Amino acid sequence: MTVRERIAAIASLANGHPDGVIDCNLGTPCDPVPSFVADAVRDAVALSGPYPLSAGSLAYREAAVRWSNATFGTSIDTANAGACVGTKEFVASIAAHLGATQGGDRDTILYPAVSYPTYAVGASFAGCRAVPVAFDDQWLMDFDSIDPHDAQRARILWLNIPGNPTGSVAGLDHLAKAAQWGRSHGVIVISDECYVEYAPEAHSILETGTDGVLALHSLSKRSNFAGMRCGFYLGDQEIVRPLIDLRREAGLIVPTVVQAAAISALGDDVHVREQHERYRHRRDFVLARLALHGIHHVGGPMPFYLWLRHDDPAIGGFELAEYFARAGWLIAPGATFGAAGEPFARIALVQPDEVLHRALDRFDNVNTPMR
Ligand SMILES: Cc1ncc(COP(=O)(O)O)c(C=O)c1O
Repeated sequence: MTVRERIAAIASLANGHPDGVIDCNLGTPCDPVPSFVADAVRDAVALSGPYPLSAGSLAYREAAVRWSNATFGTSIDTANAGACVGTKEFVASIAAHLGATQGGDRDTILYPAVSYPTYAVGASFAGCRAVPVAFDDQWLMDFDSIDPHDAQRARILWLNIPGNPTGSVAGLDHLAKAAQWGRSHGVIVISDECYVEYAPEAHSILETGTDGVLALHSLSKRSNFAGMRCGFYLGDQEIVRPLIDLRREAGLIVPTVVQAAAISALGDDVHVREQHERYRHRRDFVLARLALHGIHHVGGPMPFYLWLRHDDPAIGGFELAEYFARAGWLIAPGATFGAAGEPFARIALVQPDEVLHRALDRFDNVNTPMR
């Protein structure tokens, strides 16, 4: 069976559970959108006649820049900012778009060996080579391991901290190392920071300056906005300006009401702290129960995801995910995120506490051996 077939078989087992599936497979937040956002959306409906700017309205870019400057102490302005229709769209298209806007013959995309699959998908859309970069023991990319030939051919180095699926976090020194690596090799570094406010300490690559770098941010995770589809990219004006022009021609536009909702959500971080607390609480009680089955989190401290391994090394990520599926609990085998993820499995803590407790009860009652 291929990886895809094994994943499909696990999904079908979980979906067939007589009491229904409990879905912790995708990182799709299920908690409520902050209630104050509804007023902003209502007011913006009246303004929705004209086409919005593809770059994002001035107010949207101001809100993004204000948020970055307040959160990270950066000193960027709206010329450093552009809107995207959720960051997945940007991740999938940026390799091709940079090929068009930056020119040159660089044909390689470097990305973390265990990561969000869209980095590699974007490389294939651009006709580029997708080359995974190895991790160190903290689940952080080991830049020294990059083959000099790949470095010479690289168009993008992707960074994702806090990391999906591992929950890894890093200090500013690691981001500075990435930026420095990119600058010295003439490679654009794109730092996907969509989980940044769930790190114990929030850092952006923009704290090292904007030269040669972009930071990518999403409202999906911070404000439970996945259904709204909005995000933004911030960074080097020489990269941002031509990208805005190209993306306008591609019709990539965040709707006016969504921009209004995002502006109001970016102005508040109380709801983000509350959400962070929800994930921390879920992580603690889920891990305490799973430990009784010999299953432990082996990733970093960002609590949106659990990156699990069984004490018995013979039980890999597929076996783990299949065992969960027997309880009707759908989680992701680690191979979803690259071959190096095979021994592991990922839980997204996106279900309410009571649903997770139900999943754990069912899990306790699976009566077949794990292998
Ligand atoms: C690392 C990473 N980047 C980007 C995204 C895309 O998020 P969105 O398109 O909702 O902004 C995700 C979603 O799971 C993700 O995990």
